[in-house]
Amino acid sequence: MADVIHLNHHLLHVLNRFNIHLGFGDKTVETICNEHDIHLDFFLDIVNTFHDASYFPLQHLQKFKAGMLINYLQKTHAYYLNVKLPEIASYIERLNNDESILDAHKKLLADFFADYQHELIVHINKEEQRVYPYIKKLEKVLQNDSASREEMEELSNYSIHEYEAEHDDVEAKLFDLKNIIIKYLPPPKDSRLLNVILHELFELELDLNNHGHIEDLILVPIVDKMEAALRSQLTQFGQ
Ligand SMILES: [Fe+2]
Ligand SMILES: [Fe+2]
Repeated sequence: MADVIHLNHHLLHVLNRFNIHLGFGDKTVETICNEHDIHLDFFLDIVNTFHDASYFPLQHLQKFKAGMLINYLQKTHAYYLNVKLPEIASYIERLNNDESILDAHKKLLADFFADYQHELIVHINKEEQRVYPYIKKLEKVLQNDSASREEMEELSNYSIHEYEAEHDDVEAKLFDLKNIIIKYLPPPKDSRLLNVILHELFELELDLNNHGHIEDLILVPIVDKMEAALRSQLTQFGQ
């Protein structure tokens, strides 16, 4: 496992989402996964897709359970909300100590980031409050042989395609924010803090990119199949 972090230290955040923390010793990935009761193939696929954006074995990934994916996606949301966004906000606030940056520019960055933060929180809340609970319930009903027709009909009122249609790209606005820093802000006396902010925005963008791909390309097709199974069960009820 130590080799994984030597290869790509960005994966540390991903490992944390599986409740794996530093101090691996010489333990292998398999041993640590066993100790933490983590599905080895799932762990390897998530780590690999994060490490290499061109590695995205769709069919292989789509064999995992929706609940498993949601668990990982929720941990990722928590990381954005509780760690990454507050971290970036605090860096932006620290710009206030730099007198070589105009107040108007500090305000521009702070306002832009606050808007972005709001947009991301709304996006996440919708998934956490509406979409993920629907998927979990669908999974439960399909596993339960004695689920009632009412339960199934209630579930069939919603379709994952509604989510798919309006699932917006939360990275686009980050690009604009990065551009303000890269292109338009006059250079401050000490640019280290701006460099750090920029670096953090790139990291967040990369993470969100991977997260969005998992939602669109893996979770949606899995749920689509589950909905087809639900429809066929409902048809059988009708016969
Ligand atoms: Fe999400
Ligand atoms: Fe999303």
